[in-house]
Amino acid sequence: MAKRSHIRPMSLEDKAAVMRILEATPEFTPGEVIVAEELIDSYLSDPAESGYFILVAEVNSEVGGYICWGLTPLTEGTWDIYWIATAREKQGQGIGSALLLSVEARIKESRGRLVFIETSSKPGYEKTERFYRSHGYEVICRIPDFYAPSDDKLILQKRLTP
Ligand SMILES: CC(C)(COP(=O)(O)OP(=O)(O)OC[C@H]1O[C@@H](n2cnc3c(N)ncnc32)[C@H](O)[C@@H]1OP(=O)(O)O)[C@@H](O)C(=O)NCCC(=O)NCCS
Repeated sequence: MAKRSHIRPMSLEDKAAVMRILEATPEFTPGEVIVAEELIDSYLSDPAESGYFILVAEVNSEVGGYICWGLTPLTEGTWDIYWIATAREKQGQGIGSALLLSVEARIKESRGRLVFIETSSKPGYEKTERFYRSHGYEVICRIPDFYAPSDDKLILQKRLTP
């Protein structure tokens, strides 16, 4: 089991490690990695203005995972989790859960009500969907063939209780 992870805001020094995690995650296409990097760069260049928040999990002095989220524009208390990834060799040790729980706690502090996550129905994402379900997220919408033929978009939601 991994040593307890230390969850903290991402800094510029973490970028290379986070990019290595993204690039080594087989679920992500090269195009998705580019978009993930755009969000990271936006956050790192101006955290307050970007509209994004990013936390990393440090385990044994190494970045083991990260999560990126933000307030959904033009809503009251609705938040989107845009990206989450744990280094492949560190998955199944509680890092993703620690990141997700930290984000939910922060969203609650901001009086957030709803959290949304969009994901793909592609084979390979079953583990991801199970992970979210085990944290109380439910699939509330399925858009058939959204990403590609036979690759549906799943929208998962969790209602936060104050
Ligand atoms: C989804 C993802 C972020 C989960 O991260 P993780 O660090 O593996 O998550 P956890 O370890 O907290 O939980 C994963 C499983 O390990 C189990 N687990 C948690 N802590 C554990 C521990 N200390 N020891 C053993 N197993 C543990 C959990 O029960 C969970 O099982 P479940 O999903 O069947 O409920 C990770 O699998 C990942 O990066 N996937 C690829 C990228 C991806 O799909 N991102 C989401 C895009 S929308």
